[in-house]
Amino acid sequence: MEDSDSLWSPWASRFYWLGVAVVAFWVFLLLRYVRYIFRLWIIGNPGAVGPHLGAWAVVTGATSGIGKAYAEELAKRGMKVVLISRSQEKLDRVAIEIWAKYKVETKTIAADFKDPETIYSNIEAGLEGLEIGVLVNNVGIAYSYPERFLDVPELDKLIDNMININCLSVCKMTHLVLPGMVKRSKGVIVNMSSITAINRCPFLAVYSATKAFINFFSLCLSIEYKEKGIIVQSLAPELVFTKMVNLPNPNLFRPTPERYVKYAINTVGLEYETAGYPLHELSFWFYRLMPRWVTEKILTRVMLYAKSYLLKKQKEN
Ligand SMILES: NC(=O)c1ccc[n+]([C@@H]2O[C@H](COP(=O)([O-])OP(=O)(O)OC[C@H]3O[C@@H](n4cnc5c(N)ncnc54)[C@H](OP(=O)(O)O)[C@@H]3O)[C@@H](O)[C@H]2O)c1
Repeated sequence: MEDSDSLWSPWASRFYWLGVAVVAFWVFLLLRYVRYIFRLWIIGNPGAVGPHLGAWAVVTGATSGIGKAYAEELAKRGMKVVLISRSQEKLDRVAIEIWAKYKVETKTIAADFKDPETIYSNIEAGLEGLEIGVLVNNVGIAYSYPERFLDVPELDKLIDNMININCLSVCKMTHLVLPGMVKRSKGVIVNMSSITAINRCPFLAVYSATKAFINFFSLCLSIEYKEKGIIVQSLAPELVFTKMVNLPNPNLFRPTPERYVKYAINTVGLEYETAGYPLHELSFWFYRLMPRWVTEKILTRVMLYAKSYLLKKQKEN
């Protein structure tokens, strides 16, 4: 008995300490994750975005949805806002709303990002002399319903428009605004990507690819300009309740744009790439951790379901 005890006890003790080390490692990871969640979603970084970066903020696609919510949140924080969108009438309406609620100055620039040849010199003239601390590259269009590439209606037009509006606008607006930020060694650029940039999203191939472009552009730029004092953030939300999404009601998983922006804006300076909303962050990590064949299966089903739902809805209207 004594012999076998003396034979096994060194091994037992080694396994015991190995077990303790493994458990300690997992507890450490868990605590670190809890701290991360607490810091990102509960405390946040509310002081990161505001007039200390520069008096003006610029928001593209500012007349509805996420862009409008950003414009309002920035105005609420005391920033003057340049609103850019297609329709002057809608721009005027939003400018009046912002003045009525927050009493901050706004400037409007009507520009259709479908037409890159003509708009950027006008935008440049409109922004001249402004001390711009924040740029939100939000403008974007999506498919009216998920569809296989060759079956997308007016495919040629969709390709041109989507690349001009979703991708080119981000690079061109950054080109216009970044030099001033670099000169003043401060500034924040927020680029609206999408969860479809993290996954390969079938039946939304062009949209998904434009969002992946934005995500990569943002992440590369954030490394290049970190040392110059500029923060570049890529936001990759799932569904937010806007006219683009065209679904009945907001809920916990599909927040209103105001609720989404309330969370997203407080992640600036803490995360360069985030879903921007706690419950969307779960899918963000889920899709990253799942084997690719699982996400492909899930997304194919979801997209085909969305296609039949949206086509049925279109027929009804
Ligand atoms: N909603 C979501 O679930 C979701 C999820 C992931 C990513 N995103 C991204 O978030 C961004 C905003 O989406 P959203 O849902 O808030 O969209 P939205 O409600 O449809 O608003 C889009 C905004 O962009 C403007 N716009 C559209 N086409 C334009 C053009 N050619 N030139 C100038 N302005 C134009 C619209 O102005 P008009 O009033 O003139 O049309 C509007 O102000 C997009 O980049 C989108 O891809 C959205």
